[in-house]
Amino acid sequence: MDFCNMPDKLYHESIELISQGRAVLEDLQDWGFETWSPAAEVELPICSAAQSVAASSPATCRSETLAELALRIKDCGLCPLGEQRQNLVFGVGNPRAELVLVGEAPGREEDKKGVPFVGEAGRLLDRILFAMGLSRQDVYICNVIKCRPPSNRDPQPEEIATCEAFLKSQLAAIRPRIIIALGRFAAQTLLQTKKPIGRLRGHWQTYQGIALMPTFHPAYLLRNPAGKRDVWEDMKLVMQRLKSGE
Ligand code: URA
Ligand code: URA
Repeated sequence: MDFCNMPDKLYHESIELISQGRAVLEDLQDWGFETWSPAAEVELPICSAAQSVAASSPATCRSETLAELALRIKDCGLCPLGEQRQNLVFGVGNPRAELVLVGEAPGREEDKKGVPFVGEAGRLLDRILFAMGLSRQDVYICNVIKCRPPSNRDPQPEEIATCEAFLKSQLAAIRPRIIIALGRFAAQTLLQTKKPIGRLRGHWQTYQGIALMPTFHPAYLLRNPAGKRDVWEDMKLVMQRLKSGE
């Protein structure tokens, strides 16, 4: 079946059917049938298979993989943060974006709305994007952690270890040209380093062959407005690279 060129409605109906099918198979397994083992990590082969065939429309496949991932993790209970959330905050924006911004974890507003960066730090992020000549529709925005840590505490190493697979799948699905890692957690997680953000920022890095620019987190800028100058320097590097088509 050609999932890549399907109308949206049909595509979503198909995904719904696949999910229902998966649920039935999971039930069967619970009842002792062992013909198929649908682990949480199993990627549906639709788009990876279709991608190599339909090389002319890989972008379409990417977005579908993202939608599929969103469905797959919508009821995630892999860590205790899932029990306290109002909403899992998957990500927003253009699934074919050239630029992906990765934050830390949802806060109160994000948990309430199910959308990343909608609180005060988010408003600052919108202004940064605006200054870059971009809007939310041009980019894709997500976090390392998909569910709100209580009282906005730092994400725990185990929570990051559990949730980062979803971020990696998102980035693999989108395959942007550039990633901006907002703050320590995004930068250290994606680059697998313990280096402080103050040393990482402003220097191009590479994540899975994708150019990555670490910069300060907007919430940090709210507390330390002097850092805005640094972030703007970093964003200028990003804009140059976006324009250069490199
Ligand atoms: N801070 C983040 O890192 N992510 C959000 O979504 C909101 C605030
Ligand atoms: N600490 C963080 O976690 N992020 C920043 O951007 C700056 C300090």
